[in-house]
Amino acid sequence: MVSTNFIPHGHCYLWKTGLVSLHVISDSLITLAYFAIPIMLVYIVSKREDIPFDWIFWCFGAFIVLCGITHLAEVWTLWHPNYWVSGWLKACTAAISLSTAGLLFWLIPKLLAIPNVPKLEALNAALAAEIAERKQIEAKLNLQTQQLEHTLSELQRTQAQMIQSEKMSGLGQMVAGVAHEINNPVSFIYSNILAAKEYAEDLMGLLFLYQKTYPLPPAEIIIRMADIDFDFIKDDFMKLLSSMEKGAERISQIVLSLRNFSRLDEAEFKDVDIHEGIDSTLMVIANKLKSLPNNREIQIIKEYGDIPLVECYPNQLNQVFMHILSNAIDAFAEKPEDVKNFSNQVNQIIISTGKIDNNWVAITIIDNANGITEEIQSKIFDPFFTTKQVGKGTGLGLYISYEIITQKHGGRLFCDSTPGQGTKFVIEIPISHQV
Ligand SMILES: Nc1ncnc2c1ncn2[C@@H]1O[C@H](COP(=O)(O)OP(=O)(O)O)[C@@H](O)[C@H]1O
Ligand SMILES: [Mg+2]
Repeated sequence: MVSTNFIPHGHCYLWKTGLVSLHVISDSLITLAYFAIPIMLVYIVSKREDIPFDWIFWCFGAFIVLCGITHLAEVWTLWHPNYWVSGWLKACTAAISLSTAGLLFWLIPKLLAIPNVPKLEALNAALAAEIAERKQIEAKLNLQTQQLEHTLSELQRTQAQMIQSEKMSGLGQMVAGVAHEINNPVSFIYSNILAAKEYAEDLMGLLFLYQKTYPLPPAEIIIRMADIDFDFIKDDFMKLLSSMEKGAERISQIVLSLRNFSRLDEAEFKDVDIHEGIDSTLMVIANKLKSLPNNREIQIIKEYGDIPLVECYPNQLNQVFMHILSNAIDAFAEKPEDVKNFSNQVNQIIISTGKIDNNWVAITIIDNANGITEEIQSKIFDPFFTTKQVGKGTGLGLYISYEIITQKHGGRLFCDSTPGQGTKFVIEIPISHQV
């Protein structure tokens, strides 16, 4: 590219030292500035990542560097006539500069659209105001959600209570009605049996007298006596009447328990024998106690302590006993049989009572069924919580029991269970509320 045909550019300046120096110094300073500016541009762009369209700065940088190089070439060609090289350098600079200009032109509307600082500040303020407003609405919504949740749980509680009180009053009325209806016929059966026993004894005495007076009756009577197996009847008749008497007695007891259990006539607060309540409840659920599959038995062990009469609503307290005992029986029904055989354990419910202090009694009901896992334990007193199949469990028994003990009797009800081993429910209530 170096051609000997060309003369260095300095000749044009007639090698006048002043003129040459002026060009050299000016071109050098321009070059210095043209190299420094892109360095600063690149530095700024690399530090400020938020600057939009940062690539245009790289384009500026490129064309400014090239401009700097062309000025450097001006200095060089003063002494070295490489005009082709300097020409091509200018051509490159022209290409890059034109491209940058084109790109900048294309960018103009976009750059103009970038909001300025006051506009950004205004936008920011508007945004902040909107966020604050939204936060307020959110807080309001949260409050409303909380209120709704509260209302919902209130509704559920009321609904549970209504269902339960309806059910229990229905059950109580039915039990009381049945007990009342059975009571009359049973009493006359019972009193008639007593009379029948007396008559039978009299008749037997008369027969003995006949036999003694006439030891040799006519053949017809001897045949008839053999036919009806008179000797057997003689022995069995009295036994039969005795067992009928026992049966009637038992029915009267059951009727009494049913009346005791429902105690519709005793809906108010009064001093009650808790043990009587437990016994009548056991009588009411006697059938359920025998309902385990494969005739598996449940042993009831009563460890009644020496406790005074307790001031309470007897029918409600009996409901609590019934719910807790029923749950224990259900738990035995769910207990796998091989577990029972493996540990050779008898299904047991232990009911114990005792005084905790001067004014408190505790009733403890312990079963050795499956127990309750910790996760389930935390929910058993919630309304509608059940682990039983639809139709079998309502999830209300323990919830209602809790309400009855804590709200109606100012007492405590809690559960302690070891999964796989059994469950203990403890009812603690004040003996008297006057203290
Ligand atoms: N003795 C117990 N052994 C094991 N689980 C029990 C026992 N008592 C209560 N539970 C658990 O507590 C749950 C709630 O009982 P409850 O409120 O009476 O409702 P329900 O009997 O209708 O399920 C039962 O579903 C059962 O999972
Ligand atoms: Mg239950």
